[in-house]
Amino acid sequence: MKKIEWNDDYLIQIPEIDIQHKKLLAVSKEFYDILTGTQENYKTNMSKILVSLTDYTKYHFSNEEDFLKKYNYPGISAHKAAHDNFIMELNAQVRRLSNSSIEEGKRFYEYIVSWILTHIAKADKIWANFIRPKLEK
Ligand SMILES: [Fe+2]
Repeated sequence: MKKIEWNDDYLIQIPEIDIQHKKLLAVSKEFYDILTGTQENYKTNMSKILVSLTDYTKYHFSNEEDFLKKYNYPGISAHKAAHDNFIMELNAQVRRLSNSSIEEGKRFYEYIVSWILTHIAKADKIWANFIRPKLEK
């Protein structure tokens, strides 16, 4: 399991959203810390962090969707569908992980960070390129 850290290549050059993406990775990093830390209170810490991760992800997605709506981004429904699928996957895994091994937690961590980073690098950069010129006006 590799530790994923923020890198400025992930910036989409829309400051309010970039801040949220950084925070999303910071919460994921806390998840990593729990997976690699001492086993003491593992389950409690694990459930707490998964709740924060889910809550923050929902908050961030709805913020982003408001933004897409405000600037009439034509790909909004596909983008929202990608968000909704990820949330569904998060919810399903969170229920499952409350009773499973650290190994499964680690696999889930890798899934989450790779989904987030791919989503930022591809889908988010596309809408950002569409919206950025409208912000500069
Ligand atoms: Fe997004």
